[in-house]
Order: sequence, then structure tokens, then C-alpha cells
Amino acid sequence: MIEAITSEIHDQLITIRRTLHERPELSMQEYNTTAFIMEALKDTSIELKPCSNGVGLTGVLHGSAEGPTLAIRADIDALPIIEETGLEFASKQPGLMHACGHDIHTTVLIGAALVLDRLKDQFAGSIKFIFQPAEETMQGAKLLIEEGVLDDVDHIVCLHTWPFTDAGKISVKHDTIMASTNQFEIEVFGVGGHAAHPQKSVDPIPIAAHIVTGLQQIVSRTLSPLESAVVTVGQIHGGTADNVIANKVKLSGTVRTLTTEVNDKIKASMEEIAESIAKAFKGGAKVHYHPGSPPVINDSRMVELLEEAVTDELGPDAFEILPEASLGGEDFSFYLQHVDGMLFRLGTGNGLPQSRAGLHNPEVIFDEKSIETGVVGMSAFAMKYLNRGHDEKIGAAADVGAVHLVKGK
Ligand code: NI
Repeated sequence: MIEAITSEIHDQLITIRRTLHERPELSMQEYNTTAFIMEALKDTSIELKPCSNGVGLTGVLHGSAEGPTLAIRADIDALPIIEETGLEFASKQPGLMHACGHDIHTTVLIGAALVLDRLKDQFAGSIKFIFQPAEETMQGAKLLIEEGVLDDVDHIVCLHTWPFTDAGKISVKHDTIMASTNQFEIEVFGVGGHAAHPQKSVDPIPIAAHIVTGLQQIVSRTLSPLESAVVTVGQIHGGTADNVIANKVKLSGTVRTLTTEVNDKIKASMEEIAESIAKAFKGGAKVHYHPGSPPVINDSRMVELLEEAVTDELGPDAFEILPEASLGGEDFSFYLQHVDGMLFRLGTGNGLPQSRAGLHNPEVIFDEKSIETGVVGMSAFAMKYLNRGHDEKIGAAADVGAVHLVKGK
């Protein structure tokens, strides 16, 4: 049934996706995208409500009886990237591109909403569709949580495009699937002066260079080789002229980890390395560490339900367990601070090199075959989740809601 309805609306979904792709909007500016989604869902029985600042919306669909509420979230924003795909429906907004596949996410959620609206007499409970703004800037999820989007939600799920899984497939991982992201700045202080008289100054540039080198020791020598982390210095700024010794250098970058413990270790090492090196060379250093999003940790029972749903509806070849987590970040993790949930991957790769270019790449082309897989997979998962109480096969997963309440999260 799910597949039949999905193929019936296939052409409509492709048009929706291409229209969204042509009209990308930056984080917190998704006004037209929001209006477009409202229009696409206006003939359904879904109760639509724009978010308070006019970007993003939620929609609630009630099934045939009382039951739990499953939230399904799609992020709708684009990136400041000049598109180089050469597609006919490439971005018409100069300098903006849907390079993270959020146009696919939005289309899949519209599709799942249209499918589930037609099947609403076949499940108990409710579905809350969340079209979230501003994922790329990590603002959106926090904002919607503050507005109470999770107040009546039992579990939450989302998908993300993945060029390294083939189109037609869905992949996922138990436990941690994405990293925690943190930003840091290190100010290195010296004493400025004439470049010809270094003995009268404290030059912060070589101190900063030693600190950059020292930071490489954190992952390679401080952490266990079995732990995963990234420490990247992305920017160095210092100096104003070739014959002047600067008095300050600023370094900044990102730290990615899969656990909070590793993150705490890195923060402590970073402070020790920066401050000690600067002191040894008669300068000073101050580390500013800004926690970003926590890691995305999947609920294993939901992963099992997804496997059943995808296998039943699309066949066993359409489901894959990912061998490793990604060190990328996702603001979906903020929802998981409040309710348990799952992020899974929607394969968008094919034989063409541009399909494997990677997220945020100006040349990346997402295979549109993924849209149908996403709509069928997500709809089947939602039905399976909401009807789990009536389906003996699900067994241990049947009390997902009950366990959640006991945890009191
Ligand atoms: Ni993304």
C-alpha cells in the first residue's frame, strides 16, 4: 500500500524536489520554503502550524485511535555555496545551494506526510512532522525545542542523505552515528615590536606555530588509538606587516568526538598545551572552548524497528548497517537530549563520480531515486512504530514507549 501510493505521487515529488533545489534559502531565512511546504500539504488533514518566527513549520496527523506520538524531522535550509553541478534545475539563487541534500529531506517528509495522511485509519497515535529551519547554523532544533515542539512527543526520527550508500538503500548504525561538534579559539599573546629586533619582543607567531604542532599530539598521543576524534585548526590570523612583530595571534578550529569523555579530555589537553607552550616562550595563551552539539546516539530498539520496516517493504538488500560513525555533526542531537530517537542514512550514491562527491561539495548530485526509498522507508517505519503494540513480531521493541517513560527523559 505504501509503495503504491508513493509511486502514484512520484512525479509530483520530483517536481517538488527540483523546485526546492532551484530556490535554496539560508538558515533562518527559509520564508519561501516554509510557504511552499504549507502549500504542498494544504489539502491533507494534517494540522499545520508555522513556527513562531515564520521560518519552519510543524504538522500533526492523528491516527484512528489514541496512542504514542512519533515526531519526524526534516531540516530545510541550504548553504552559502556556489553550485557547480551543471544540473538543469541548479540553484537560481546566486551563491546558495542545497549541497547537504536538505531539499531531498524536505521532499521525503512532504511525501511521507502525503502517504501517511492517506493511511491514517491504519495506525493508532499521532505523527508530528517537523520542518526545521537552520540546521547548518545549529540554531533550529534548539529554537523549536524552546517553543515546545517536543512537549507531546514520545520518540523522534530523521534521515540524512548519504552519498556513500547506494541510492535505493537505507543505512544506519546502532548507538553513536554522528559526532559531537565543538568550536575553539586560542588567543596567543606576545609583545609587539620591530621585526629587526626580535630580542626586544615576544613574537606570538612562532609560539602559535608550536601550539598548532603541539595540538597534533592530542589525537595521536593522548587518546587511546581505539578512540576517535578530530582536532582541526581551521584559521590562523596574526600580524599586520612584514617588518612588524605582532602582539597577538588568533587560532580557531573545530573538535569532533564520539563521546563526552573524549571531548573533556581534549579540552583539558588543549588548555595545557597552549598555556604551557606559550609560557615556555615568554608569551601567554587563552583557550576559549565552545561546546556545540552533542553526539547523535541512536536508540537500538528503533534501529531494529527500522530494519524490520525496510526489509518488509523494500527487501533485505535495501537495508545496511554502517561500519562506522561519521565525525560530522547534526543539531538533531539536541532533540535526543529530551527524547530517544534515531537518525538514519538515505543512500544517494550511484555509478557517477559526482554522486559520491560528498556533502557540502559544490558538485555533489543526489540520486533522485532516493526520494521514493526515503518516503517508503520513513512511512513504513512510522506505521511499524505506531502499530508496534498490535504486532507480536516486534517483541522486545513493543514497549519502547514504556521504557522511555521509566527513564523519565
Ligand atoms: Ni545536512
